[in-house]
Amino acid sequence: MRYCVFADVHANLEALKAILLVLKQEKVDRSIFLGDLVGYGAQPNETIELFRTINLHTAVCGNHDRVVVRNTQVIDFQTLARYSILWTKQQVTTDNKRYLAAFNDGLVKIEGNIGIVHCSPYRRNVYILNRRDIKKAFQKSQNWITLFAHTHIAAMHSIDNKVSTLYPENDFYYPLSRKKRYLINPGAVGQPRDLDSRASIAILDTNEKMIYWKRIEYDIRSAQDKIREEGLPSWHANRLGIGQ
Ligand SMILES: [Fe+2]
Repeated sequence: MRYCVFADVHANLEALKAILLVLKQEKVDRSIFLGDLVGYGAQPNETIELFRTINLHTAVCGNHDRVVVRNTQVIDFQTLARYSILWTKQQVTTDNKRYLAAFNDGLVKIEGNIGIVHCSPYRRNVYILNRRDIKKAFQKSQNWITLFAHTHIAAMHSIDNKVSTLYPENDFYYPLSRKKRYLINPGAVGQPRDLDSRASIAILDTNEKMIYWKRIEYDIRSAQDKIREEGLPSWHANRLGIGQ
């Protein structure tokens, strides 16, 4: 199976439109979504409606999605993110909330010993960034591949007798070994934080046992303008331009 793996769209309709064009060219069978369809961006309903047209294999709920559909506390959110997510919660229609509420929660297993999760396999709302977190994640998830998101940084961690990390290059094919286990982050579609402002996705081919990342240009200016027009925090517009 050839999957598109993506995450952290964050109501950025322009970025989602751009990746859907690439999906057609890449001939993927189905898509795996790792959470955070909304929050930060100015077009939550339009983004959910476009997302609903995708040939989806599985979706998991992100921390932003969870706030919109459940009575979750927003204590883990910083001030600006909290402002945006509470605005989003008011905007999203009942029908779209029902759609988001059907996303899986926590670590979900899909074909061929592959697990998917939004934040980490061991706890909600933590970022897998340092060596200690990576080791903890490998201990908790014994899957061959665990796909995760939340950091908004494209990365691949692997373990055999030691842990290694690489930050992937655009369009470079990485073979996957059955002798190793992997923690793979596709990066963010709608708000990258790895100093590359282009939308990021990963293409995972389980037959060929390989993965590659694609960075995709989109109309950043339009997404920024919409955030400002809605009176949402200007930092959420500015950061799109610098990939931070
Ligand atoms: Fe996110």
